Order: sequence, then C-alpha cells, then structure tokens
Amino acid sequence: MEIELSESQRAVQALARRFAREKLSAAGVETDRTHRFPAEIVAELGRLGLLGIFVPERFGGAGADHVSYALAIEEIAVECAATAVILSAHSSLAEWPILGVGNERQKQYFLPRMARGEWLGCFALTEPQAGSDAAGIKSRAVRAGDYYTINGTKNFITNGPQASVAIVFASTDASQGHRGISAFVVETNTPGWQVVRVEDKMGIHGAHSAQLSFTDLRVPRENLLGEEGQGFKIAMQTLDGGRIGIAAQAVGIARAALEASLSYAAQRQAFGAPIAKYQAIQWKLADMAVEIDAARLLTLRAARLKDNGQRCTKESAMAKLFASEAAMRAATQAVQIHGGYGYTREFKVERYFRDAKITELYEGTSEIQRLVIANNILGLR
Ligand code: CAA
Repeated sequence: MEIELSESQRAVQALARRFAREKLSAAGVETDRTHRFPAEIVAELGRLGLLGIFVPERFGGAGADHVSYALAIEEIAVECAATAVILSAHSSLAEWPILGVGNERQKQYFLPRMARGEWLGCFALTEPQAGSDAAGIKSRAVRAGDYYTINGTKNFITNGPQASVAIVFASTDASQGHRGISAFVVETNTPGWQVVRVEDKMGIHGAHSAQLSFTDLRVPRENLLGEEGQGFKIAMQTLDGGRIGIAAQAVGIARAALEASLSYAAQRQAFGAPIAKYQAIQWKLADMAVEIDAARLLTLRAARLKDNGQRCTKESAMAKLFASEAAMRAATQAVQIHGGYGYTREFKVERYFRDAKITELYEGTSEIQRLVIANNILGLR
C-alpha cells in the first residue's frame, strides 16, 4: 500500500496540528476540568472547514478525503480527545450517511449547514437495552400520510444536547427484525425531541453523551434516508467509516501519552540519571512508538479503502481494535513512567488514561470488533 501523503493531505495535517497546538492544549485541560462543551472551539473548527472535511465542495465542504480526515482527527486528539470525538461523530456518523445514502434534496438542505458548523450532527442508534446488539432497538416509527411518528429512547448519544441534526434509527416493521429498521434525518427542534440527561462519564468530559427520548416525534416522510428497512445496513456502513475516526482518535491519545512520557523520562532523575537511561523505561517507550505507527498505518489503510469506494468493514474494525487497545496500553504505561505523579491531576497522563478507555467501548466494543473481523476472515459475512 502506498503510504506517502499527498500535498493536500499534508496541508490538512499541518493545519489541524497548528490549530490543536495553539487552541486546544489549554482547552483540553479546561473542558476536562469543567465538563463544559467547547462551543467556541467547535465554531472555529467550522471556520477552518474541518466540520465539512470530506463533504464535497458543491455541498459547502472542504472536499478532502478520509485520509485527511483521519490525520486531522489524530492531531486534534493529541490535545483534546473530547473535541476529536465531537468532530468525528458529526462527520462520520451524521454527515456521512446523508452524503452516502441521502437524496439530492437531503444533501442540499443539510450538508452545507453542517459543513459550516451552523448545525452540529449526532447519530442516534444505541438504546438502553440495545448497545452491542444494535438490531435489538425498540424505537418505533409509524407512518401516516406524509409523516412518520417516532417513539423511543436513545442512550449515550455523543453531541446529543448540542445537535441540530440527528440520524435516528427506528423500526418501521418490527416483524422483520434488522430488515425492518429504517433511518431518518431529524431536525432536533421538532416537538417531541427531549434530552433527558447528560451522562457523568470517566473521561472525554467536553463531549456530551446524552439520553434522548422521542415522544410522538413527527418526521416528514421526505426525511427517510434511503428506503424503509435499509436502516440497519445504513448504520453498519456508517460505523465502518466511524470506526476510522475513533481509530484516529486513539492514535492521537496514544501519541500524547508517548510525547508526555518522552519529555518526563528525559528530565526525571532517579539513581543519579534521567530515567530515560534505564531499559525498563526505554522498552516501554519503544513499544509505545511501534504500536502507534502500526495503529496509524492500519487507520490510514482503512481510510484509503473508503476513499477508493471499497468496502472497509474488516479493515476499519482492525484499525479501531488495534488503535484503541494500543492507546489504552500507551496511557497505562505513561502513568507508570510518571509514577505517583502520573496519578495526579498535575500531569495530563491521567486524563489520557481516562480518555483512552472509551475508545475500546464506543462505536463497537473491542469484542464486537473481533466478532466483525472473525466473521470476515471466516467468510461468514
Ligand atoms: N456493511 C453493510 N452491511 C452490513 C454490514 C456492513 N458493515 N454489517 C452487517 N451488514 C448487513 C449484513 O450483511 C446483514 O444483511 P442481510 O440483511 O442481507 O442479512 C445484516 O446487515 C445483518 O448483519 P448481521 O447478521 O451481522 O447483524 P447482527 O445483528 O449479528 O449484528 C454486529 C452485527 C456487528 C454485532 C452489529 O450489531 C454491531 O456493529 N454492533 C455494535 C453497534 C455499535 O457499534 N454501536 C455504536 C453506536 S454509535 C456510537 O458509539 C457513537 C458514539 O458515541 C461516538
């Protein structure tokens, strides 16, 4: 596989890196401490074109590719993993299904506003009793005339409280199981949309994960994405791309853990020398560096397949699985290298440790990624 980045991909990477270093270093600490949604940072992402990064120019986006998207997410996650997932959920999980499956009217209406950052997006699939088993959702959409009426509850919805647009999954024919699920683009100012609560989480505090409730939410028929019964496939195709974003986020967190460890190990003295002189520390640093490169290569491979219009189900699951577990290992070792200081709020590594964990959980747990990979290599799907 060709791994050389093009000039435009390098330009996006440089732009995101500069923005992250200048604007996110302090904001990452602040949002973690206050749990505040970083609205001004998100607005800035919109001005820079990063909220419509792979949206074609004719729909108001930057017209870049998924490789650029992954590079940008990584840079942002180095400084603020919460901002990275706000961007990733908006792009991969809300813009992509409209772009990939929506009709011309839906694209014209939603994408320019989303790409400019006027409307933030979210993806409402998970329910209290349906996380890994996404086909088990209980939300129902009943059609009468030109409207569907949706009732149900959604859980852990990233950007739920701030979103103006949501991709909502509900069953239009419960007797058909996963083949009865349909997808809708919903404007969240529709009566019946309610944010029930925002979860108090271990990490990524700036990204708000909400429980949502829909009570007789009336959605115009023209907001159906694709056709009735295609919703589950749309969700799976969307997650194929979403997992690339989470893999890139994990690479960014792991890189932050390594960078902090390198600098700490160079200055921290023990037994008369900087701890970087000792093999016990060097081997940890070496393992972190190897895993970060491997994780990035897997992530860019999946992104490249997506850009080529090829299916990337297995590859994005591999990238997300490896990168998230590598991030957790890197963050764990970073705390270890920092010793007792690593367990205090004075050093950022304790945040990396808390932020890394979620990458093994959302957009499919590590167990689900292994299932997807196994199904693919066994030829079961
Ligand atoms: N692309 C296209 N079609 C796909 C597909 C894919 N990647 N994966 C499955 N399908 C199709 C299958 O071909 C099959 O088609 P038929 O109807 O023709 O039979 C159909 O979908 C059902 O497939 P499965 O039998 O494999 O479905 P399943 O019920 O066994 O579930 C699963 C498979 C992989 C476990 C799936 O449920 C899954 O991915 N679960 C995890 C859900 C998840 O990731 N949730 C994340 C929520 S979003 C989030 O976390 C956002 C956030 O906060 C940031």
